Amino acid sequence: MATSTWVTDLSWGELLGGAFAAYLLYGIALAVYRLYFHPLTRYPGPKLAALTLWYEFYYEVVKRGRFADPDFYEELYGSPTRKRDKFEWSAKMFGEPNTLISTVEHDIHKRRRAPVAPYFSMAAIRRVDPVIRKYLDILNRRLGEYKASGQPVTLNCAFMAFTTDIITEYAFGLSWGYLEAEVFYPNWLPLVIGVSEQSLLHKQMPWLTNALRKIPLEWVMKVKPEVAAFHQLQRGIQSQIEKVMKQKQDGELTKDSKQTTIYHGLLMSDAHASEMTPEYLHGLGTTVVSAGGITTAHYLKTTKFHLLANSGFRISHGLLARLTRVAPEESFTVGGYTIPPGTPISMSSWLIPTERWLEPGAEQKKKYLVNFTKGSRICLGKDLGRVEIVYTLSSMVRRWCGDDGKGMELYRTTREDVDIAHDFFNPFARLDSKGLRVVLK
Ligand code: HEM
Repeated sequence: MATSTWVTDLSWGELLGGAFAAYLLYGIALAVYRLYFHPLTRYPGPKLAALTLWYEFYYEVVKRGRFADPDFYEELYGSPTRKRDKFEWSAKMFGEPNTLISTVEHDIHKRRRAPVAPYFSMAAIRRVDPVIRKYLDILNRRLGEYKASGQPVTLNCAFMAFTTDIITEYAFGLSWGYLEAEVFYPNWLPLVIGVSEQSLLHKQMPWLTNALRKIPLEWVMKVKPEVAAFHQLQRGIQSQIEKVMKQKQDGELTKDSKQTTIYHGLLMSDAHASEMTPEYLHGLGTTVVSAGGITTAHYLKTTKFHLLANSGFRISHGLLARLTRVAPEESFTVGGYTIPPGTPISMSSWLIPTERWLEPGAEQKKKYLVNFTKGSRICLGKDLGRVEIVYTLSSMVRRWCGDDGKGMELYRTTREDVDIAHDFFNPFARLDSKGLRVVLK
């Protein structure tokens, strides 16, 4: 009683002042703990980074993603059987808290991955082979049109159209038709860049995803057209999933449907009820479409440039971002320092030097090939991506480069149009680049 009288006797100003003082004291105590008493205090690195996650925000959001020990990669990510959570704070970047790629807990992730994994096995990819070949034929026909017109073609847009058409057809049974679109729907690329960049903001401000969804699309269109366009695409994914769900409701799906598309099969699987909700299926659809499009297209663009520029084959880093993992039950020793269980740790494939591949004994160094990462969260689409890459590159060389290698020439494209300048989770070249442009002779 006495306390409540004491509180009600205070003015609003005094209450606010008190709350501010308490917050300040808490901040100071937290800073002292993080700098002097935290188990990682002795670990080298900037003190500011030990103090606050806003340090990461500064480099990722303000500096726009500009930017170890490679043997530790194996230890941290290596085995699919060792428990690895994701770091909740950084998993917020994916916008949807409840989708496969953003799942924090190891066991829930394992349960969620199981019903989707069969659609990415080598046997499944063999069944998708005719789809991949169909789009390769369209890509080649379109390149033939460019050759006939003498106009330069922006290959990275063509590659994005190719990979996106394949994954949308394989996921839902209906491709988005970007390969047939005029100049390969060039808006798709800035859209992916915009959304990738925005994902960095979500880590620090997770409420932003929902807030943006509540703003009318026309308003978002004025401020951030690429984000509005992405929301439109998400609605497209939603309606494609709803169609498949309706087919299931109407009893039109049979177990045979398992053979056709990811979603037809998934809906007929024994997946956990919480992974059959429209929200979950929608989040998964967004991951599959974006992961299936941009990564492989980036690989194709980088490799094609280095082949054309004749500067030798160089590894195209998969995802550049530092992928966080938390080992809930294991501690690690790195460089003489102990990292206790439960500590978020991250590494980037970009930090693994490519020169390693040129040294003698490179065969033993296969463990450094980490484009698809490793362990329980290894890229689901790695085999699909590999097949797309092999088909496309061999077709480029056989059909378009000519016996003397002069059938395709770079057009106003330099290394700056390809070299990574921004880490928006996905890697991007400088933002004013016009892409990898070539002329077919
Ligand atoms: C060269 C091409 C590709 C590269 C380098 C690549 C790389 C990666 C990496 C590094 C991850 C781990 C992300 C993390 O830990 O947060 C990942 C996850 C994933 N990738 Fe790929 N990817 C490629 C192609 C594809 C394709 C074609 C698909 C097809 C849909 C795909 C679907 C996925 C999915 C669904 C995940 C999430 C897996 C999970 O959380 O269990 N990727 N990818």
